[in-house]
Order: sequence, then C-alpha cells, then structure tokens
Amino acid sequence: MSLIEIKDLKVHYPIRSGFWNRVTDSVKAVDGISFNIEAGETYGLVGESGSGKSTTGKSVVGLEKVTSGSIMYKGKDITKKSNRNHLDYNHDVQMIFQDSLSSLNPRKRIEDIIAEPLRNFEHLSKDDEKLRVLQLLDIVGLDADALYKYPHQFSGGQRQRIGVARAVATNPKLIIADEPVSALDLSVQAQVLNFMKKIQREFGISYLFISHDLGVVRHMCNNIAIMNRGRLVEIGTRDDIYNHPLHIYTKRLLAAIPETNVSQRKAHREARLAVEQVYREQQDKYYDEHGDAYPLVQVSPTHAVALPEALAQQIVQEGEVKA
Ligand SMILES: Nc1ncnc2c1ncn2[C@@H]1O[C@H](COP(=O)(O)OP(=O)(O)OP(=O)(O)O)[C@@H](O)[C@H]1O
Ligand SMILES: [Mg+2]
Repeated sequence: MSLIEIKDLKVHYPIRSGFWNRVTDSVKAVDGISFNIEAGETYGLVGESGSGKSTTGKSVVGLEKVTSGSIMYKGKDITKKSNRNHLDYNHDVQMIFQDSLSSLNPRKRIEDIIAEPLRNFEHLSKDDEKLRVLQLLDIVGLDADALYKYPHQFSGGQRQRIGVARAVATNPKLIIADEPVSALDLSVQAQVLNFMKKIQREFGISYLFISHDLGVVRHMCNNIAIMNRGRLVEIGTRDDIYNHPLHIYTKRLLAAIPETNVSQRKAHREARLAVEQVYREQQDKYYDEHGDAYPLVQVSPTHAVALPEALAQQIVQEGEVKA
C-alpha cells in the first residue's frame, strides 16, 4: 500500500456573476488527477503557473475543500474531516508554504512559530519544548538567537528554513513542499534542498515536492507528475520524464530549463524553438476539442501519457506525433 493514494481528485471553484450573484461557471483548478506517493520518496508535481499545483497540495493536507475524488491514507479517505481527526492526520502531514513571508505570522516570535505544531500535538513541558525548538533551529542551520526574533528580521532563505523547521517539528510522515526554493538565489536554493534531503534521510520523511522548474526537481525526485491546466499530462520515473518525454507540454518544460554550458546554448535555443513550433502547430493532437488533456494511458509499467491510445503507441515507436 502506498503512503498516499490520490484518486480522481477534483477541486472546482465556483464563479459567481450577475445581479443575483448566482454560480454561473467554475474554475477547474484540479480536474481529475490520480497518483500515489510511496513512503520515504520525494514525488515531484510540476507545471507552469496556474496549473493547479498549490490547490492539489492544499487538498492533500486537508486545507482545501475537495469537489470529488478521494485521498487515501492508512486505508481511510482523508477528504473527510472525521477521518483526518481519527488518524491524527494533521500531525503526520505538514506543509511548507510557497510564500514564506505571508505564511509566518508577523506578530509571533520564531520560538512560538516553530513551537505551534508541538503545542497542538505534543504536550511538552516548557523546558522540553524550548530544547526541541533549539534542536530544530540547529537542524535547519540557524543560531539560537533566532528564537526571540520576528519573521521580517530574516532573509527569504532563512524564513524558508524556519518554515522547514516548523514542518518537521512533529516528525511527520509526509511534507507537502510547495515551491520551497523558488523565491531564493541559486546558491541558497542548493543549501535548502540539501538539508531537505538530509532530514529526509534522518527521519524517513516523504515529500510531495511542488515546483514549476524541472531543473530543480531533477535533483530531488524519483517519480514525477506533470500538471497542465488541472490535469496530469504525463507521469513517470525521473528517467522516463527527462530521457523519454512523450507529451509536448513536458517537452516544453524541459526545453525551458536554462542551459548552463555556454557552448551548448545555440543548440539548446534551436531545440527550444523547434518544440515551441510543434506545440503551436499540433495542439489539436495533444488536447481534445475543449483544449483539455486526454486521460492518461500507460505506455510502460512506470510511464503514462495523456494521449489517445493509438497516438500514444505511435509516439512511443517513432518519438513524435506525425504532422
Ligand atoms: N480560492 C480560489 N478561488 C478561485 N480560483 C482559485 C482559487 N485558488 C486558486 N484558484 C485558481 O485555480 C487555478 C490553480 O491555482 P493554483 O494556485 O493551484 O496554481 P499553481 O499551479 O500553484 O500556480 P503557481 O505556480 O502560480 O503557484 C488558477 O487558475 C487560480 O486562479
Ligand atoms: Mg502555487
């Protein structure tokens, strides 16, 4: 059994308009996605802005009301609040938020911010609690004097580490990491990612790692799902996605990774322009008449792509869809 099994998850937001403020339409932020997260792994969820990644992450921690579908944990559907309470789910699953400044209460000191989940779930004595918070600060590489400071007194990278310290405080099984390093400089990104890996090894945590950047995900994730306008267009192992991408949207995201090798830049740019041209000219093959992605079809035990069955087979054999 997987740690988490997400099945046909949908989150639709109502759009109201007109004099009576009636619901006239809906934003299909998440529109029928399924994937599993195994214990101890880092699962990547990747897509461009607005594709529904944060909405998915918030649904998995139980912060978003789900329209339909299920999220199974220890054999129970945690989209129901009673099951979350019964399983101690809010203790086992924590979130690192995309925006560290607005997710940390500006009026609280770091000691209280990090201790909050401990106070909710583990009733420690004052001394034990302080010791634990100091340990957590040490794990994320911050000095003890951080205890009495406020969030605005830290840099973006330091705040993100505080978010990590808070997320690991209760020794959770799963952490939803929503763009944990996107707002940071490259050098700081590597630091934060490295210690996320370190605490994963030490504590056996699983991550749902959300990012718009396939370059970052490559170093973190064993399995990856590619999200496009609320649906999944491709699922596979790291090798499937980086070495044998099948959907044009995945190829676009791959082509968008910056090339660091100067001698390769011209070839990289040409390859990117070629992918963009296929994307413009062959949209109707990759998306249905409403512009939505097709259901996923399995092309190998680990690899699935959102295409009509015949096209999926053709693309596997020939590498691309014929014009
Ligand atoms: N509370 C809400 N009410 C209405 N629409 C919403 C709400 N939250 C999100 N949306 C819409 O749902 C879609 C998906 O949003 P989401 O925040 O999940 O995207 P994302 O993939 O996390 O994007 P980003 O990379 O920019 O963080 C967007 O079109 C967004 O406008
Ligand atoms: Mg987001």
